[in-house]
Amino acid sequence: MLVLSLSSLKGGVGKTSITLGLASAAHARGVPTLVIDMDPQADVSTGLDVPVSAEMDVADVLLSPRPRTIQQAITPSGWSEGKRGHLDVIPGSPRSAEFDRPSLSEKYLRRLKEALARTDQSYRLVLIDCPPSLGGLTRAAWVASHRVAVVTEPGLFSVAAADRALRAADEVKRRLARQLQPLGIVVNRVRTNSLEHEYRINELKEMFGPLVLSPSVPERSVLQQAQGSARPIHSWPGETSAQLAAGFDELLERALRAGQMRRRDRGA
Ligand SMILES: Nc1ncnc2c1ncn2[C@@H]1O[C@H](COP(=O)(O)OP(=O)(O)O)[C@@H](O)[C@H]1O
Ligand SMILES: [Mg+2]
Repeated sequence: MLVLSLSSLKGGVGKTSITLGLASAAHARGVPTLVIDMDPQADVSTGLDVPVSAEMDVADVLLSPRPRTIQQAITPSGWSEGKRGHLDVIPGSPRSAEFDRPSLSEKYLRRLKEALARTDQSYRLVLIDCPPSLGGLTRAAWVASHRVAVVTEPGLFSVAAADRALRAADEVKRRLARQLQPLGIVVNRVRTNSLEHEYRINELKEMFGPLVLSPSVPERSVLQQAQGSARPIHSWPGETSAQLAAGFDELLERALRAGQMRRRDRGA
C-alpha cells in the first residue's frame, strides 16, 4: 500500500483536482483505492459523489480511531456505484477544522496513521487530499503517508512555496514520520503558449531537478466540468479530457512505482 498526501501551502492551486485526477486514473485501471478527505471544505468528497452528511466522517476517525468507527466512515464513492473496495472515501467534515491548529498534540498527529493500520480492506493506494495550510491536519496526513506530492501553479512565488512545503514535510519526517519522502512537485494549471509559465517551470526545474514531476497538468475547463458533475475525467467525452486522463495515468504510474520500490526496499 502506498499512502500519498497531496499538499500545498495555499488554497486554489489544485490539490483536490490532482487528487480527483489520480483517483480517476486508479479507478479506470482497477487499482483498489481509498481517498481520505482531510480538508474541512470537503471538496474531494463532493467530487467523488459522496454525501458529506455521511454517518461517520474523518472527524470521527480523528476523535476515535476504533475499527468500528473506521469501517463505518469508509464509504464507496459514487463513481463505483455503491460497490465497496474499489474506490472508497473517508468523507470530509467541517468538524475536522478543530484539528487544524499548529500545536496539535502528537497523540492526534498519529491518529490517521493508527486508523489506516486498522482498516480491514486492502487498498493498493491511499490518496489524502490536504487542506490549504500546513497545520495539524496536513501534518497528521504526512505522519500517515509514505510520499507527499506538493501541488503548485507556475507562478511568481511557486519556488518559495514548494520549498517551504518540502522543508515542513522534512521536519515532520525527522520528528514523527521516518518513512515520509517527497514524490515530487505537480505543476498544475499550466497555460499552453504562456512564456511566463514556461519561465516559471524552468525555474522550478533548476531548483528541484527531477522532483518536478512530468507531465505537468494543463489548465482546461473540461476538468472543472467533470468535477462539477462529480464524474471521473476518464469517463468525460472528448479529446481534451482524454489528454488530461493520459497525463493522470502517467502521474499514477509514477506513484505506483514508488509503492513498488518501497516494497522491494522493505523486502531487502
Ligand atoms: N488544471 C486545471 N484546469 C482548469 N481548472 C482547474 C485546474 N486545476 C484546478 N482547477 C480549478 O481551480 C479551482 C481550485 O482548484 P482545487 O483543486 O479546488 O484547488 P485546492 O484543492 O488546492 O484548493 C477549482 O475550481 C478547480 O476546478
Ligand atoms: Mg482542495
